[in-house]
Amino acid sequence: MKIVIIAAIAKNGVIGKSNGEMSWHIKEEFQHFKKTTLGFPVLMGRKTFCSLGKPLKLRENIIVTSDKNYSIPSDQTYVLNTIQAGIELAKSFNKEKLFIIGGGEIYTQSISLADEMILSHLAFDAEGDVYFPKFTISDWNIRKEIPNDNFSIVYYSKK
Ligand SMILES: NC(=O)c1ccc[n+]([C@@H]2O[C@H](COP(=O)([O-])OP(=O)(O)OC[C@H]3O[C@@H](n4cnc5c(N)ncnc54)[C@H](OP(=O)(O)O)[C@@H]3O)[C@@H](O)[C@H]2O)c1
Repeated sequence: MKIVIIAAIAKNGVIGKSNGEMSWHIKEEFQHFKKTTLGFPVLMGRKTFCSLGKPLKLRENIIVTSDKNYSIPSDQTYVLNTIQAGIELAKSFNKEKLFIIGGGEIYTQSISLADEMILSHLAFDAEGDVYFPKFTISDWNIRKEIPNDNFSIVYYSKK
């Protein structure tokens, strides 16, 4: 199972706001996220899950939290207490990929575990206080780059 980070990152590195508000709305970028992740398990931090407000449809939603009593009464939703436990669970679904969908804390801890990244690099700065972690570009090969109006989707594979 490949571990794939997927994120949208403003020019200034911002990925969101710690109060859970979205920093931008780009329909085409959202559609790209949906099309790419549909049918695969997605792993996210508890704060990202709270900002989504509900599970993502047609995907096994794996939520990580340190809260041992956290529960979500919903099908296709799994609560785990470590990222590694979430990854092990995802393996049991026998899917080709697991998508790590954020937020900042989870990206920071999982970038070393990822085989691939699909990053939408936005053409503008955004307001916010949650950032994508700095990564060493020389650790990654760029496989493909798809330009769009306001953003460019870059497909990275770990060397
Ligand atoms: N632009 C994008 O592509 C994108 C994608 C996703 C999210 N976002 C944005 O990112 C922001 C949220 O990011 P964030 O960094 O604040 O939070 P986050 O990474 O979504 O979630 C952090 C929470 O996850 C849990 N957690 C973290 N590491 C853990 C570990 N090792 N083991 C167990 N639980 C762990 C903790 O939950 P507990 O506190 O419950 O223990 C922690 O408070 C929002 O603004 C969201 O909109 C942007």
